[in-house]
Amino acid sequence: MKGIILAGGSGSRLGPLTRSTSKQLLPVFDKPMIYYPLSVLMLAGIRDIAIITTPRDRDAFIALLGDGSKFGVTLDYVTQDQPRGISEAFLLCANFIGDQPVTLILGDNLFYGHGLSGLVRESIAAPITGATVFSCSVSDPSRYGVATIDAEGRAIKIEEKPANPTSNLAITGLYIYDNTVVERARSLTPSARGELEITDLNRTYLEQGTLKVTPLGRGVAWMDTGTPDALLESSEFVRSLQRRQGLHIACLEEIAFRQGWISQDALAAAVAGLGASDYGRYLAEISNAGR
Ligand code: G1P
Repeated sequence: MKGIILAGGSGSRLGPLTRSTSKQLLPVFDKPMIYYPLSVLMLAGIRDIAIITTPRDRDAFIALLGDGSKFGVTLDYVTQDQPRGISEAFLLCANFIGDQPVTLILGDNLFYGHGLSGLVRESIAAPITGATVFSCSVSDPSRYGVATIDAEGRAIKIEEKPANPTSNLAITGLYIYDNTVVERARSLTPSARGELEITDLNRTYLEQGTLKVTPLGRGVAWMDTGTPDALLESSEFVRSLQRRQGLHIACLEEIAFRQGWISQDALAAAVAGLGASDYGRYLAEISNAGR
């Protein structure tokens, strides 16, 4: 299973914050936004990951994450010149995907909740045929891809940003595909807004009866971080949880250590490089305790 994080785009709704830096490098409380989607892939056990960035921001991502070895993963960097839609990810990463299935996560989506990693792990454990997307109930479905399901929970319709949504189930930015996804992406044509839409790609699976819509359930928080309000709300969410629990969300070195992907020595070395930050202090406690 390969992983892709889509972290390109102009971040236009966050201007001027994004005039000189990538949206996915902006802070969500105490860490760069991309840590959160990367943590979701890591918690699902996915270690071979491509990050799609703009040409302008590529080096900044490399400076932050490197080749991934400090997190026990392998990171490849792929550039997208123009924001031509989410489905372009599969064209840009065709070589990287090879003959494998692939999980795509949007670089500005934050997921948190009990059972989430188990759900994703289960969805990628069996041989993958078709596509799995994850839905979440929202108050403003018109902003998203929307799924309408029948009484048995099967998707009967999916629409991109419908003016009059027929359900409140948004399709989140986490998608699992079999290897036919690359061919399917090649057959798409740009939408009215000039993009290769992920909803059009998902519809090819829906029409063949191979699109699975898995509800995330009430115990999972899904936030998008694409506007100033959403960005601040995400930060507040992470801050409240971390303060209350004393546990950090999306602490990549911690995840790598607990998965057995990096040694205690590597963890201690990471701590040394993190200075006097809370993130560093948190990791130091784990490193000192050795568990
Ligand atoms: C994109 C997808 C949409 C999905 C959303 C999740 O929207 O097109 O189907 O529900 O991500 O964040 P966009 O980010 O282009 O507004």
